[in-house]
Amino acid sequence: MTGSNGRLALVTGGAGLIGSHLSDLLLGEGYRVRILDNLEPQTHRAGKPAWVPEAAEFLHADMRDSEAVRAALEGVSLVFHQAAYGGYMPEMAKYVDVNSLGTARLLETIRDENLLVEKVVVASSQAVYREGAALCAEHGLIFPETRPVGQLAAGEWAVRCPEPGCGRVTEPTSTPEEAPMGGETVYALTKVDQERLALLWGRQNGIPTVALRYSCTYGPRQSVFNPYTGVIAIFCTRLVNGQPPVLYEDGEQTRDFCYVGDIARANLLAATTDRLDGLPVNIGSGRATTIREVAGRVSASLGSSVEPVARGEFRPGEMRHLTSDISRAAAAGYEPQTDLETGIERYLEWIGSQGDVRDYFAEAEEVLRKKRIVHETSPPEGTGDARRG
Ligand SMILES: NC(=O)c1ccc[n+]([C@@H]2O[C@H](COP(=O)([O-])OP(=O)(O)OC[C@H]3O[C@@H](n4cnc5c(N)ncnc54)[C@H](O)[C@@H]3O)[C@@H](O)[C@H]2O)c1
Ligand SMILES: [Zn+2]
Repeated sequence: MTGSNGRLALVTGGAGLIGSHLSDLLLGEGYRVRILDNLEPQTHRAGKPAWVPEAAEFLHADMRDSEAVRAALEGVSLVFHQAAYGGYMPEMAKYVDVNSLGTARLLETIRDENLLVEKVVVASSQAVYREGAALCAEHGLIFPETRPVGQLAAGEWAVRCPEPGCGRVTEPTSTPEEAPMGGETVYALTKVDQERLALLWGRQNGIPTVALRYSCTYGPRQSVFNPYTGVIAIFCTRLVNGQPPVLYEDGEQTRDFCYVGDIARANLLAATTDRLDGLPVNIGSGRATTIREVAGRVSASLGSSVEPVARGEFRPGEMRHLTSDISRAAAAGYEPQTDLETGIERYLEWIGSQGDVRDYFAEAEEVLRKKRIVHETSPPEGTGDARRG
């Protein structure tokens, strides 16, 4: 019970992966917790999950409902805004409505009602970057643009130096918060909106606000139903069903995978220190892992011999490499504790306790192709087509 004084925390999206772990942590620290969650059907196909803590007040409500948001804020000291529509989905209006307008509604209500909220922590994302930072042999640290679709369609994945006349293939390096923001998918664009709205509002209203830019988060309770988010969850449900993981590009792209317990603790830290106030803050493991390696680790944990497939498909707007520079958070006391191997073991153990787990990815794949979220490479005539083997 460290300084919580029984204060009331609102966790939006508290039935989800991060929100539920955060709710548990807050309750353990002596906070009272109220959850607002609409139980988004794509994430919660079986209804309200059993892990929503009994000790929390649960409001089955939607961020798009102003009255519900108002009611959820009553008496609240701390807001942890985790609810969002996520992943690579074809919708546009829904993303903007839930993520951008939902955040605006929440912030506007606090201001208009003069609510005594002490701090707002919002779930931003590494998706706000255009591409991971990189090193050019000639130009040093650079912040490349998103790779052009034409380049990807030709099956060329490397990130090249954008300096005029250079174009060298770069080496990835960790990305600091100063890197330029992008918004290269609809989801990413709404995360940029959300973060900017929150930090701007915090400055205007003198309410400490922190935007945590999470890296790829995974762990027990990550939806086994949602085929559009979370590569670890998708690979696990594929392999459990004897299906090969599908690697986009060549599988050599890298990401920073962070265990959900570390993300939850980062939220508590942000709420209890003033060192991060007013800032965007990277939260991750600080380590790069290739997507192919993730597939390999899950296979190894399951003792599966099913090999991943890489058919040269790609998602326009996607980054090639992204590892978070976590020094800002570390200076305030953040330290990731769970490594990838342990985290994957915990996820698989949890999946094992979930009864029959279906593979939803096969159906989703078709939708993603039709809606042009996933593209295929089209190599020039006469070059052979090794990628499609
Ligand atoms: N998981 C990741 O890799 C990751 C990475 C970066 C950022 N984030 C952000 O972290 C936050 C939490 O993500 P998560 O991984 O726990 O996802 P999740 O899908 O497990 O949880 C999100 C929760 O929000 C709820 N929700 C969705 N739309 C809602 C609405 N309109 N009204 C009320 N509730 C709604 C869902 O029902 C769900 O329980 C999100 O803001 C997400 O954008 C996640
Ligand atoms: Zn260069």
